[in-house]
Amino acid sequence: MSTLQDLIEQARVAFDAAVDPAAVEDAKARFIGKSGAITALMKDLATLSPEDKRTRGAEINQAKQAIESLLQARRQALADAALQAQLAAEAVDVTLPGRVRGAGGLHPAMQTLERIESIFRTIGFDVADGPEIETDFYNFTALNTPENHPARSMHDTFYVQGGHLLRTHTSPMQARYMQTHKPPIRVIAPGRVYRVDSDATHSPMFHQVEGLWIGDSVSFADLKAVFMDFLQRFFETDALTIRFRPSFFPFTEPSAEIDMAFTSGPNKGKWLEIAGSGQVHPNVLRSVGIDPERYTGFAFGVGPDRLTMLRYGINDLRLFYENDLRFLRQFSHQTV
Ligand code: FA5
Ligand code: MG
Repeated sequence: MSTLQDLIEQARVAFDAAVDPAAVEDAKARFIGKSGAITALMKDLATLSPEDKRTRGAEINQAKQAIESLLQARRQALADAALQAQLAAEAVDVTLPGRVRGAGGLHPAMQTLERIESIFRTIGFDVADGPEIETDFYNFTALNTPENHPARSMHDTFYVQGGHLLRTHTSPMQARYMQTHKPPIRVIAPGRVYRVDSDATHSPMFHQVEGLWIGDSVSFADLKAVFMDFLQRFFETDALTIRFRPSFFPFTEPSAEIDMAFTSGPNKGKWLEIAGSGQVHPNVLRSVGIDPERYTGFAFGVGPDRLTMLRYGINDLRLFYENDLRFLRQFSHQTV
């Protein structure tokens, strides 16, 4: 009798000492497992008389049940403790105020692009998209700029593997669009372009919007009219100081660069180049299968980042790409 009581007591101590479920199961094995103490006692019954066997067997069974309920209690206690610990660790204070997420705003460069697109759509221009990773062919060769042409060095760029490059301008879209559309063609192609450039008016990544109009007798006078009209609508005033400055591009003839004077900010009165432009070169039309005797047209490539500088009197283009919220917030309530 006292042996069985001792055994129960030993089991209680062992279960209480077990700090995790694995230790509890180990202890269980020692008392009521297949080679545990209780099982051993059961085996001894074989040597007793039937009478003794019954009483002793009942006693052992009672002891076994006592140990089982101790085991059950310990298992439950450990499970409860684990649940309490998890609840404490994952506690949420529902009375804390929520974190407010500020409303975002469109980046000034994107606002300008959307403005340009909507102005050109109103005069019947399509809006096209092209790859930023370009082939040498579209970026240069199709634009009458064969290999070893000196004009290539004006566009120092970033080359990527496999003979591709990051496009240096949106002009490759002229050839891509003319290959898939027949005249009359009126299209703008906005997007990102890349050059090895960096100062107050040059960023290594910047935006351009290509413009192209090919049709019957589309002249340089049309270029001036369309571009001036665009600028007046973009800046919401007719009082603009603009000049067309003779220039050179292999893909236009004649060519002009377009400058505009700042009307506000630290650069007030200073000129800033905003675009390259010209009559599309006959060789470019030929390279995409358009007869230059039949059709003529103009193209331009304007820098919207520079237009944004002029619109808000900003003197350093790099401010747009530093992601300083104090700068960007000033544009977040502007309407496009
Ligand atoms: C060109 O890129 C020609 N593809 C433009 C063109 C198109 C000419 C169609 C004729 C016909 P240019 O390198 O001048 O030209 O760049 C055009 C405009 O992009 C510039 O006037 C300027 O507004 C802008 N730009 C050029 N480089 C940068 C730069 N690093 N950062 C910001 N804007 C730039
Ligand atoms: Mg230029």
